[in-house]
Amino acid sequence: MNKRELFPPSVRAALQYPAPGAWMPEVPPGAIRLSAGYPDTSLIPTAEFVRSIQVLVQEERDLPFHYLGSRYATNLRQWARNHLASRGIGVDGAQTQLLITAGAIQGLDLIARVLLDSTRAVLVEAPTYMEALEIFQNYTDEIIAVPMDANGLRLDALEQILAARLATHQVMPTFLYTIPTFQNPTGYTLSDARRRRLLHLAKRYDFLIVEDDAYGEIFFQHPPVALKALDEEKDRVIHVGSLSKVLGPGLRVGWSVGPAPIIDAMSVFKKDLDHTFVEAAVGCYLEHSDWPAQLATIRTTYRARCDEMLHLLAKSMPPDVTWTTPQGGYFVWVHVPGVDTLALLPHALQAGVAYIPGYYFYPAPIPAEGAVAPAGACAGTEYLRLSFSHVSPTEMACGIERLAAAIRAVRGD
Ligand SMILES: Cc1ncc(COP(=O)(O)O)c(C=O)c1O
Repeated sequence: MNKRELFPPSVRAALQYPAPGAWMPEVPPGAIRLSAGYPDTSLIPTAEFVRSIQVLVQEERDLPFHYLGSRYATNLRQWARNHLASRGIGVDGAQTQLLITAGAIQGLDLIARVLLDSTRAVLVEAPTYMEALEIFQNYTDEIIAVPMDANGLRLDALEQILAARLATHQVMPTFLYTIPTFQNPTGYTLSDARRRRLLHLAKRYDFLIVEDDAYGEIFFQHPPVALKALDEEKDRVIHVGSLSKVLGPGLRVGWSVGPAPIIDAMSVFKKDLDHTFVEAAVGCYLEHSDWPAQLATIRTTYRARCDEMLHLLAKSMPPDVTWTTPQGGYFVWVHVPGVDTLALLPHALQAGVAYIPGYYFYPAPIPAEGAVAPAGACAGTEYLRLSFSHVSPTEMACGIERLAAAIRAVRGD
């Protein structure tokens, strides 16, 4: 049976894009992974987590193994409410609701599922998190890229796009997906003034904002103000959070907070139920650990790693190569003039260092029916993403040196 007969048009449209994860480089053994957006191994509290599981099972016996009933899983919800309140985000249970999800990604998928289809459009930052692009492509081809600068999303460009679409009677976007704080892949943060202006624009043109806050807790100096905390209308912003970058991505614990009708709809489509055991284990860990101290260690460690990466780049890179200076998060975005970073990658891998080419962080061209589209778009050709989160300072030094040498070699410097 061929795909045409097997799948309905919506699925056929989605299957024409490159396979999920096509951007992930095959890293040879021994190569240094400046590509990996993973936490540092030493910051995953495995010993404390084992103790929490012991406490959980001693106290609750078989309860967390059932569909529901664990006090600690309930505690996780209360912890999330307290955490959100500390960020200025109220969850009143009536107008604004909370849904615990299997990581931020499940939240994004459920949002797309209830708000998008092939007749709808979504705005994204360009560049943006490639897995969010993969999710949106499953539902619509209308992914509208809005450029960024060092202050985050360019609101002048956004306004132009919106005005032009309105004037030409094109479908208006249902929502904007944004990572306003320590963005993946650029490390940029949307300025406070732009946050307020963005909310005004969203009201004026009547679109929702999906705020992905995966890195919001990893600030090096000042805690950022969440867009959701500025949402005076209360139903303009859906805030998506996660423990992946601060506790461990394998736990798959995240949350979505937003207008009750949207969260209700997401709950209808969330058919994997609660993940009671892991939610209870995380709830137990958070109750018994000194989480603020752990977060402080996380921030100091990544700040030092980031400083180190910026220092190494300045020491090793050719003078015309430039990069961003993030105030938090995991990533540095590097501009390599005159180099196609997709073509550079095999050379870098051979030299023993991996990164993610900029190409993959832009919406893929819309595939023609029956054809397999190439990944990415040309906009990111001279850019690459480096992650400082997962490698030791020694590995980082070696990786940056190898990358600088590979750049010089392909350019014939
Ligand atoms: C911006 C952004 N959102 C979400 C995620 C994934 O989060 P989770 O593991 O909670 O699904 C990532 C991971 O790289 C990310 O960079």
